[in-house]
This record gives sequence, structure tokens and C-alpha cells, in this order.
Amino acid sequence: MQINDAVLQSEEKIIFRLREIYLKHGYVPYRMSKFEEYDLYAKNKDFLISDNVITFTDTNGKLMALKPDVTLSIIKNSSDRPDEINRVFYNENVYRVSKGSNSYKEIMQSGIECFGDLKENDILNTIKLAKASLSVISDDHVLTVSDIDITEYLVSSLDLSSSDKKQMYKAIGEKNIPQIDNLTKYLSDRSNADIIKKLLSADGYLCEVRDSIKEIISQIPSDISSPFINLIDRLSQDADSADLKIDFSLLDDLNYYNSIILKGYIRNIPSAVLSGGQYDKLMKKLRKRSKAIGFAIYTDLLERMDEKSDDDSYINVALPKGRLGEKVYSYFEKAGYPCPSIRETNRKLVFENDEKKIRYFWVKPSDVAIYVERGAADIGVAGKDILLEYEPDVYELLDLRLGKCRMAVAGPKEFKDDKSKTLVVATKFSNIAGKYYRSLGRDIDIIHLNGSIEIAPILKLSDVIVDIVETGKTLKENDLEVKEEILPISARLISNKTSQKFKAGQIRKIAKDLSALLEDQND
Ligand code: PRP
Repeated sequence: MQINDAVLQSEEKIIFRLREIYLKHGYVPYRMSKFEEYDLYAKNKDFLISDNVITFTDTNGKLMALKPDVTLSIIKNSSDRPDEINRVFYNENVYRVSKGSNSYKEIMQSGIECFGDLKENDILNTIKLAKASLSVISDDHVLTVSDIDITEYLVSSLDLSSSDKKQMYKAIGEKNIPQIDNLTKYLSDRSNADIIKKLLSADGYLCEVRDSIKEIISQIPSDISSPFINLIDRLSQDADSADLKIDFSLLDDLNYYNSIILKGYIRNIPSAVLSGGQYDKLMKKLRKRSKAIGFAIYTDLLERMDEKSDDDSYINVALPKGRLGEKVYSYFEKAGYPCPSIRETNRKLVFENDEKKIRYFWVKPSDVAIYVERGAADIGVAGKDILLEYEPDVYELLDLRLGKCRMAVAGPKEFKDDKSKTLVVATKFSNIAGKYYRSLGRDIDIIHLNGSIEIAPILKLSDVIVDIVETGKTLKENDLEVKEEILPISARLISNKTSQKFKAGQIRKIAKDLSALLEDQND
């Protein structure tokens, strides 16, 4: 049957075209049921993007789940023939909690899985197919590639505690070089941390960075580095892959993934539309002997692809409204990005400098991270407290050393913690407080408040508070004192992950100019 192209929506057209190329490359369609036994997900929770799964009891009393993921079902239900190659593609709905709305969403996913006796050619062809899939969606795309065996080797060889290693992976994912320095400053041997920093800074098109990446990773054992070196050599011989980007900030769960990690971006879609990699470790967990690689395309993200048409040459900067924001703006101004109209007294929220191609807007300090994560702003300045609390999926590029304060536990002077009782904690920072007390193994009850936290222990609503302390004046005037310091806080320059792919040069220049200004001020 001939389908009339005009009646299809753009994402439906994309699904049809993807189907065509997968069939052409020898992939066979894979259909599956909407349900799976819940047990499969309970045993592999970390593989899922979110812990939340919709469950129900079937007529036999078995606990079932609406599929939150496709890969697990395909592997579980496929026969294990490690001496052959199986190639399947799918187009299925999955059911997940979306991050922003905190409610379940039906999400359309297309993708491929290739498993069996994988050779270098199969890895190479999967990467090429990921690239071809992005081309079907838009010419304006970037496919990024990394090798987590290299990252894992570098991190595991550092003499860090397991919790610092965890933080190290987080810092790598955020391209947070100051945090990497911070975590490794007391190590006697920091050479592998230097390699990590060099790899993170060398992100760029394959054709530009291939030689420097090869040189950097030639310093690690060749059994770890050579598969990636061979792969990038072969990819650079392929004309269609020259505009691939190498990006060592790409990470995925090390219990499931190994070697190659892929993420694909489309201009103006704020998060990755393609995600995948090699997952031999997951196969092993599911007692399969085959190796496997695959990727998924989040077709639901493509719905709004054609809507945004603002002048893309601008860099959009979200500034936190208020005192901190004014200081931050004056840094941008001094660093060479002025916008005089911002100083006029009016209630305007958006300001542009046509010559510098920069657009500033004032938003509530706690919303900066959301604007940046969702791509409404390319970059922004947010307090570390907000970043730790909301954990947005953004890069953290620079510590501006402004708005310095501390996250602390405070309480009435006479309060003594009685470990035999549950500690009642009032806070605006439930996530930070929860993590802090979990790390101490202390049982707590959190009361989430939105402001004037200091009043909670005074009115006996809580025993203590977890809050920001800047001058300490508010605590003092309310007869409270700091009991424990959790961590220092300051303002950070953050960037959207897609913007970092398409406006890399402009963003890097702004970060460099701000960083130079900070160095001058320190001299
Ligand atoms: C913050 C924080 C403390 C106060 C600390 O409150 O929650 O209450 O500042 O500053 P200090 O140590 O210099 O006294 P904010 O002004 O943001 O108002 P809020 O209570 O409404 O959150």
C-alpha cells in the first residue's frame, strides 16, 4: 500500500524513513507485548532511566509492568546464539515518568539492537547507522562518541575513596574541571586525572581532535586504548563520519555498559534524541553469552522540532534575578559582553546586544537550571545549592566564586541530637538534606518548606534545619547556631548539553573570558 506522505506528521515520516534504512541494513522488525513481568525491571533497576514503573496484577496473580524500556525485553526474549549476529529494530511505546512533570508519559521509541559475535565492523556499522538515523531527522545534528572502558580505567586507577570516585564520574559527566581538581588535589599521583581533563577539553569534531585524542590516550595501556584508537582511525576514513564528535563526558551505568557510548543531538532539541552504546555487561547479567550494542531514538522529542525559529546566532543567558544576578552581569560586562539596557530601571526581563549577539534574561534564581536544562537558555548562572538539589542534566563549566555561602545544619543552641529518636529536619533542600543524612546513616523525617526556614525549630516544627548560611545574621538573630557544615556553595556557570554541541565556540569563549577575568581578580 502506498502511503501518502502529506497525511503523515513529521515524526511519523521520520519513523517510516528509519524503518526503511534499518530494513536496508539487514535489521528485522521486532514486535513485542506492552507488558513484561515486573521482576525483570526490579532486578535491573539501575539500567532504567527512572525507578518508577506502572505495575498491575494479571489474571494469574503475577505482578506485571507496562514496559518502561525496550532493550531488556528484547534481550530477555531472544535466543542466545553467541556465534551468530542478530539484528533487530523496533518502534514501540514505553511508559516512564518524565523528569519535569513527575507524571507518567507514553513515549515513542525507535531503535536497533545488534547482538551475538560482535566484531569491530559491527561496532563501526552501528555508529554509522546512528549517524544515518540522525541524518533522517535533520541535517543539523551531532553524534557524539566516547569509550567508557578508557574513562573507567582512568578513574579506577586514581587513589580515591569509592564515594569520591562516584563524585569523579559525576564531575566528568558535567565537564566540571574545577571539581576534578578539587577531588584530586591531595593525590600524590594525579597523572590520570590530568589525562581525564585533557580528554574532556579535547572534545570536538573527529577530524579536528583525532590526533590529539590518540596522543593523549597513548599514555594508557594499549589493551585499553587500542580498540578506540582503531575505531576512530576507521571512522575518520569514512566521509560521512568526519563530523562525529568525540566527547569523553559521555557516561552511562558502568554495571551495564562497556566500551562505546553514543549520544545524538539535533539543533534546538534541548536533550539527546539518540542514546545507546555497547552493553555486554547487561547481557552477562541476564545470563547471555553474546555481546551487544544498540541505540534508541526518542521520537517523542521530535514533536516540537520545527517550532523554534529564533535567531540561532545569539547566546541566551539566564541570570538569577536579584543581588547575585547584578554581580554576575557586571562580570559578563567586564569580560566583554555588555548590554547597557539591562541597567535601565524598568520591568523588562529580556535584554539584547545585537553586536555581541548576546541575549540576557532575568529569571528566579532557583529556575535558572530549568531554563538551561530545557534549552530556553544556552548558558546561565546558578548557585551550587540549586544544582545539587535539582540535579539538572547540564554541564558545569566554571566556578564564578560569587555568592559564596555554606550549606549547613543549624538548630537551637541548647539542642543536642538524640540518636535514639528520628531527627526532624526542616529545609528547602530536601534532596541535599536526604543525601547528607543517608550518608551518615541517620534516620530523619524531612519537612519541606519554601522559605523562612529558621522559624521551624523555634516553633518546634522541627529539631534542626538544613539551609544556606551566608553572613550568619539570620541564625544569630533567631538564637540558632550552625551545628554541622555540609558543603561550601558558590555560583556556577552552566550550559545546556545541546547548546554545547552547536554553539561550542561561543560558549567556550565566554567561559574562557570569564575565567581570565577571575584569574586577574585573584592576582
Ligand atoms: C537565605 C537563607 C537564610 C538566609 C541566610 O534566605 O535561607 O534564611 O538567606 O543568610 P545570612 O546567613 O546572611 O543571614 P533568603 O534570603 O533566600 O530567604 P528565604 O528565607 O525566603 O528563603
